[in-house]
Amino acid sequence: MHRLKSLLAAMPSSLRFVLALLALSFLAGVASVTVLYRQDAAQARTSAEVMTGGSAKAGQEAIGRYNCGACHQIPGIASAVGRVGPPLNGIAVRAEIAGVLANDPANMIRWLRAPQHVVPGNGMPDQGVSDRDARDIAAYLYTLKK
Ligand code: HEC
Repeated sequence: MHRLKSLLAAMPSSLRFVLALLALSFLAGVASVTVLYRQDAAQARTSAEVMTGGSAKAGQEAIGRYNCGACHQIPGIASAVGRVGPPLNGIAVRAEIAGVLANDPANMIRWLRAPQHVVPGNGMPDQGVSDRDARDIAAYLYTLKK
């Protein structure tokens, strides 16, 4: 710190000025990347909620309650590290659900409520998920774009 001070003192003031500008623009860059990243997350949540009519936050809680994480790795869900079913990162941008349904909100809700009806005998049990919960869970899943 002391050395930095004497180095700065030894510099012509024009150079100090340029260095200060550089430091400021670096900070501004970091700040704008942070803002963009937050906006991106907020937009992903809004569009997922509009698509499904559910609440992503309530969905995140419901996923914990139904213990989906016993079988799936799910970003943003504590202890969702299961390896029975596929990891659900990027589920928002996958073409199909379980390889048989087009990935759209109505099908996602259908799958979450009655996977055994869609693919009898598959490894995901029907868990009596309510329509409300399925909607909320779908809203959360559609925020998972990567
Ligand atoms: C007992 C294990 C188990 C539980 C509990 C479980 N799943 Fe699954 N899940 C699976 C398996 C296995 C598959 C793959 C089914 C297939 O492809 O036929 C699957 C598939 C899925 C898919 C489709 C994934 C894809 O890549 O197409 C989604 C979405 C999903 N599960 C969400 C959930 C949610 C949300 C819950 C909690 C409400 C849940 N699962 C609970 C085992 C489970």
